[in-house]
Amino acid sequence: MVEKESKNRRLSINEWESEAGGVIEKKAFDYIARGSGEESTLRANREAFSQYQISHRVLRDVSKVDTSLKLLGHTLPSPVLFAPIGVQAIAHPEGELASSRAAASMDLPFITSTVSSYSMEEVAAQMGETPRWFQLYYAGNELVAESMIKRAESAGYSAIVLTVDTPIMGFRESDQINNYSPIGEGIGSGNYFSDPVFQNLLGKPISEDKESALKKQLELFENPSLTWEAIDRIRQYTDLPILLKGVVHPEDAKLALQYKVDGLVVSNHGGRQLDHGVATLDVLEEICNVVDGEIPVLIDSGIRRGGDIFKALALGASAVLIGRPFMYGLALDGEEGARKAVQQILKEFEVSMALAGTATIGDIKKTFLVRKK
Ligand SMILES: Cc1cc2nc3c(=O)[nH]c(=O)nc-3n(C[C@H](O)[C@H](O)[C@H](O)COP(=O)(O)O)c2cc1C
Repeated sequence: MVEKESKNRRLSINEWESEAGGVIEKKAFDYIARGSGEESTLRANREAFSQYQISHRVLRDVSKVDTSLKLLGHTLPSPVLFAPIGVQAIAHPEGELASSRAAASMDLPFITSTVSSYSMEEVAAQMGETPRWFQLYYAGNELVAESMIKRAESAGYSAIVLTVDTPIMGFRESDQINNYSPIGEGIGSGNYFSDPVFQNLLGKPISEDKESALKKQLELFENPSLTWEAIDRIRQYTDLPILLKGVVHPEDAKLALQYKVDGLVVSNHGGRQLDHGVATLDVLEEICNVVDGEIPVLIDSGIRRGGDIFKALALGASAVLIGRPFMYGLALDGEEGARKAVQQILKEFEVSMALAGTATIGDIKKTFLVRKK
């Protein structure tokens, strides 16, 4: 009873975060919550949102607020997707199975990570017709990369999200201190270990020699020599739309257009990769100016409140990805927790829209924002 009351009181994502810290192992919590280096990028992400204030309009009919939109052929109830997060079994034994069901229950797209705890097919089976995208860490073995892309298409994924801000892993001090690597422990092997092409690279079946399989996965996982021509290779394997996740520089946005990618996710990996990096909100507008409406521009890193979504859309984003908040919900209450954490942010977004005087997503414009001096 007491526990239930405390769950009902949980409102802001900060509360979800601190409660999650009390229920999962410290090393797992640190892996989720902390950032790289001195966490300058992690902090900058949040600070950027607080640099803008919303200047509301009045006497506009907001009796019906419509948060729906169209994105890459899908009609979504809200401009929100579940960010690709690997190794989700560190938060809850059901990991991505639970969080993808939470996404599907809200008709929100779920992006399955290459290093998910469960395979992309197992995740797809939870989601019915709800859109799902596959996040690709382009493997250092071409045949494995090809296999994963084709498996995603067969399992009903409707886009490939190529993450490009991770040529190597960021330097995360807390993980060093905790001597913790969930991927190294095999918690992110759902897609590798189920891949027939990967299995063929191994001397022995995984059941007989898991250690060598894991070693092989780690060897292929980081692919620092990847360049822009990877996009052409993905296109040889699939007709699915390709999005690039991890772009923050306007020059890269220009190149992305030249390579004819279908969408961008402005992201710094939630402050887990390059430390002293730019906040995503600070570069969003310039990137949207470069893209000039040709392809959708999504954003993540630091979105915790409904007002943050409003600000991102006002500066030109088509939609946002939410990362850690659903992981805190997952840690606390599995599927239900992941759903409630995201619902909380969605509710706030709807209230922000109404109070700002915007009845539809199309009404949200930069003229509603004031930048603090
Ligand atoms: C624990 C954890 C694991 C992540 N794993 C991946 C991943 O496998 N692939 C990826 O593209 N991004 C990954 N990310 C980054 C998220 O997709 C997203 O960019 C980030 O969480 C957004 O920031 P936010 O958590 O502040 O909302 C991960 C983030 C966290 C917190």
